[in-house]
Order: sequence, then structure tokens, then C-alpha cells
Amino acid sequence: MTSFTVNNNPVHYKMDPNTPLLWALRDASNLTGAKYGCGNGECGACTVMIDGEAVRSCQTTIAAIEGTEVITIEGLSRERTHPVQLAWIANNVPQCGFCIPGMIMAAAALLKKNRNPTEDDVKTAITNLCRCGVYPRVIEAVMRAARIQRGDETLDAGASPGVDPATAARLVPALTPGGRQR
Ligand code: FES
Ligand code: FES
Repeated sequence: MTSFTVNNNPVHYKMDPNTPLLWALRDASNLTGAKYGCGNGECGACTVMIDGEAVRSCQTTIAAIEGTEVITIEGLSRERTHPVQLAWIANNVPQCGFCIPGMIMAAAALLKKNRNPTEDDVKTAITNLCRCGVYPRVIEAVMRAARIQRGDETLDAGASPGVDPATAARLVPALTPGGRQR
């Protein structure tokens, strides 16, 4: 059994310790934001934060992260008000959307460490692949998110998706502190 926290909830996965974190999150915790793309560490669709670092969850076993703090796209902010999320919505970054959860987690991890990144810093830090080619919008949105985080720009939260956080938490118990986990 392996123990760590996911979105601030303690989890104890009764799974093979060599199970990739991506599958524990998706199959056991019903946290399907992190996506399976290449499965070999290249595309970044599966990116989550572990102790504040952007990590490819398809390449990380649950045994390797004992005692850590995992944050997924579902746990980044309850009201979708993280600066990266605000900028992503305002700049209409997504096209098909498949790469977006991983991109956002990579961007959030970058801004945790670097509040004033250059465009080159963004290109170096975010190596995620996007089959739709939204890279220019990603760079602009990360720069905007940095301005929001520093207080140099203010953005209102985007329109509600029509699912309130309480409903989302009921549908996805892992979002709720104390929610059922395996
Ligand atoms: S699915 Fe993990 S890096 Fe592509
Ligand atoms: S928006 Fe389609 S893969 Fe990136």
C-alpha cells in the first residue's frame, strides 16, 4: 500500500507499487484530468504537480512518491481562479483541449518558482506537446498569468461552466477533503 496526498486528501492505494501514478489517479481516484498521450514521457499530457514540481505521471510509479503531495488539474483551484486558468480562458488557449490540463500544470509549476519568466523561460520549462499547435497562445497566456500573479493585471473569473463546485465534488469524491479514495 502506498500513501501520499492527492489534492490535499490522504490516499492509500492498494495497487501494485509499480503502477504509474497516472493510472492510480484516473482509475482509482476518478481524476481524469491528467491524460494519457504517448505513455513514454514525451508529450506531457499526463503532467501533475508533485511537491510543486511538474512531473510526467505516466513515468512515475506510486511507490516512488511515498509521502509526497500531488496536485492534479482538479485540485489547482476550486473556483478555476488560479492565474493560469484565468489567463487560459481569457486568451482562448485550448483548441481540442487534450493537452491543456498538462500544459496548465506545467505552467503553474513554472510560476511557483519564477514569478517573472521571460518567453524563453516559458519555452524551456514547458516542453509539453500540442497536436493542435497552440504554442503561441500558451506562451502569451503564461506571460499574462505571470502578470496576474504579480498583481500587474486583473482579470475577472471566466463564466461558470454550469457545474458548481459542490456538484463536481459529489460527482468526483476525490475532490472533497475526506472524500473516498482507494
Ligand atoms: S502520457 Fe505521459 S508524457 Fe505522454
Ligand atoms: S489543444 Fe489540442 S492537443 Fe493541444
